Amino acid sequence: MNTHAINDKPSLHTMDNLPFGLLIRPTFSGQTVEQLPVSELRALAREHHLLILRGFAPTFVDSPSLTRYAEQWGTIKMWPFGAVLDVREHLDATDHIFDHSSVPLHWDGMYKPTIPEFQLFNCLKAPAENQGGCTTFLNTRALLADAPPERLELWKTIEVTYRIQKVVHYGGEVCSPLLVPDPRDGQWVLRYNQPAEKDTRFLNRHALEYHGLAPEQVAHFEQDLHERLHDPRFFYAHAWQQHDVVIADNFSLLHGREAFTSRCTRHLQRVHIHGSPVCTNTALKR
Ligand SMILES: [Fe+2]
Repeated sequence: MNTHAINDKPSLHTMDNLPFGLLIRPTFSGQTVEQLPVSELRALAREHHLLILRGFAPTFVDSPSLTRYAEQWGTIKMWPFGAVLDVREHLDATDHIFDHSSVPLHWDGMYKPTIPEFQLFNCLKAPAENQGGCTTFLNTRALLADAPPERLELWKTIEVTYRIQKVVHYGGEVCSPLLVPDPRDGQWVLRYNQPAEKDTRFLNRHALEYHGLAPEQVAHFEQDLHERLHDPRFFYAHAWQQHDVVIADNFSLLHGREAFTSRCTRHLQRVHIHGSPVCTNTALKR
């Protein structure tokens, strides 16, 4: 297949509401995502942490076609359901992932032995504009670069145990430092699974137990962190359009979801790509 270099084409853009990441658009009619060199995309994803490929001719029409493309990115992290997770509402959902509720910020693979470097999303069906369902992304490197030094020193001493029932494809118990080195370059990144909002419908609520914080410090810590997590300089909510392809850096970003209208058309597909070497989840070994 012919591929076309990205960097010498006027195809890179920023969007008004995009605080980090890159928007990449086709440079000629009928161009497909498969015609962009994966090696260049991978380098851009590591540099900018989020790539939004919009307006390309649709070619990922089913799981096999998306899987074949994802294999070019590296080793696919396999799950009991296979390579591709269909992210859409289940009317009999037992976990928030398959409900229409919001999903708090988290990182993928946190309960699994290995953690993927990238998530590759393909939007098969977007919700209507007024139906919600944005996928949220937080640039933790930028957040940490902005945090006061005394806050960083406190955060380096905190660990968090997370517990959740395994009712779908993930679950269990892990204990992770709040700050960990990015496995690629050792820079600090934030690993945090936000508590679910209180007093709202939330299927399979997870529990947090803080270490290194006195009980009376927890409320202030959570409030302070919550505000930083939603600082528009670091936080981006992606409103899906049909056939969007999004590549997200799971090592340095956290991600979540805004609630959406039940029974709307929202249907995403997601594939996990491992880094090289594969990242072992040390939080699971504790
Ligand atoms: Fe996730």
